[in-house]
Amino acid sequence: MKNVTVVLGAFYGDEGKGKVIDYLSSDNKYAVRYSGGNNAGHSVEVNGAKFAFHLLPSGILYDNVKAILGNGVVIDPKVLIEEIDSLKEKGYKVNNLYISEKAHVILPYHPILDETLEEMRAGNKLGTTKRGIGPAYCDKYERSGIRMEDFISSRFKELLKENIKNKNVILRAYKKPKLKFSEVYKEYKAYAKILKPYVCDTITMLHKAIKKGEKILCEGAQASLLDIDFGSYPYVTSSNPTIGGAITGTGIGARYIGEVYGVIKAYSSRVGAGPFVTELTDATGDRIRELGHEYGVTTKRPRRCGWLDLVSLNYVCMINGLTGLCVNHLDTIGKFDKIKVCVAYKYKGKKTTDFTTNVDFLANCTPVYEEFEGNFGDISKCRSFEELPVNAKKYINRIEELTNTPVKFIGVGAAREEMIVR
Ligand code: IMO
Ligand code: MG
Repeated sequence: MKNVTVVLGAFYGDEGKGKVIDYLSSDNKYAVRYSGGNNAGHSVEVNGAKFAFHLLPSGILYDNVKAILGNGVVIDPKVLIEEIDSLKEKGYKVNNLYISEKAHVILPYHPILDETLEEMRAGNKLGTTKRGIGPAYCDKYERSGIRMEDFISSRFKELLKENIKNKNVILRAYKKPKLKFSEVYKEYKAYAKILKPYVCDTITMLHKAIKKGEKILCEGAQASLLDIDFGSYPYVTSSNPTIGGAITGTGIGARYIGEVYGVIKAYSSRVGAGPFVTELTDATGDRIRELGHEYGVTTKRPRRCGWLDLVSLNYVCMINGLTGLCVNHLDTIGKFDKIKVCVAYKYKGKKTTDFTTNVDFLANCTPVYEEFEGNFGDISKCRSFEELPVNAKKYINRIEELTNTPVKFIGVGAAREEMIVR
């Protein structure tokens, strides 16, 4: 009974996971977010209306889908309520949302600490989204975090009081204004009341679904090279967007997972600091950014752009056990005359295809490229692989060959239906 499918980002986020997730949603009964929080930014287009989600699973837009925020997610109640309200304004009832009682809550001191820690890093900033993600996970692992089940109970008052007392000591040390317990409590107690009806035991719920043979889609946020364990630490996020996170962040056992799809773009991008071997800081990089509209959904920052890196993709296939790839923006890369793909790194004069996220290693690697012919023309109407022009086919075939992983989905345009499914 492998009725669970996982869709996750392969590189540094923003691969267009929303598009594949959206496609798969109609076929699934459950859509589950398993890691991260509102540092994510997922754009989905349904019936001509555009949505940008930070926290809610995109599956929420489907009546046939129960949308779950799993125990691995960190939830900013204010942001969540805003997203729920904006959906309600658009006519959605949002009666298909379920929040894990074990998910942790982002409280006002978390974004303040996130920002303060970034300031302190001076020349060594990580470029976080400043949404309080890192500090919220810190509290979870340090065991002072507040879970959803505590947030909606009478325990919240004492737990918050204790936390604010401790955080104020830290804030004072950083010369930041203190937080006032009574004010925060009043505001957040009201949020808890609004969210309470959605909070439940999502672990039991998912297992009942598995027993019934119902299909579950785990919606990844962030991406593999931003993983706290497998990414380019410290330039990573504070959770596991990789396959392990789908297990610990939902309570679903590994034996139930069937397909694991990794989403990439036909080029690479990264927001925030950290190594990026194939980054192009020249006019070509600028052109990719403009053609691919590479500006952040969450922070509006221009994204760093470069050629596709198959060395790191192989590593990503390996650590996640990917069963398939989705290649988005094939149309974008097809606008170039010549396209490059990194097939090896040169490190200290030697060629290697072994990837490691050690930042010194990555900072000293130069890409070895293979060149492809571009000029794909308008491929937005192609709905089968066979219809693609020969140069586009060659490009996809080479990705499959070098990663030993089938390309199951190909994005050929921005619109939701502009995708080839194989
Ligand atoms: P989606 O789901 C792109 C990056 C930030 C920063 C680092 C740490 O839209 O693909 P954090 O706020 O998480 O502590 O920041 O991680 N980052 C993302 N980059 N897409 C995302 O999500 C990201 N979530 C975090 O830019 O470099
Ligand atoms: Mg993003």
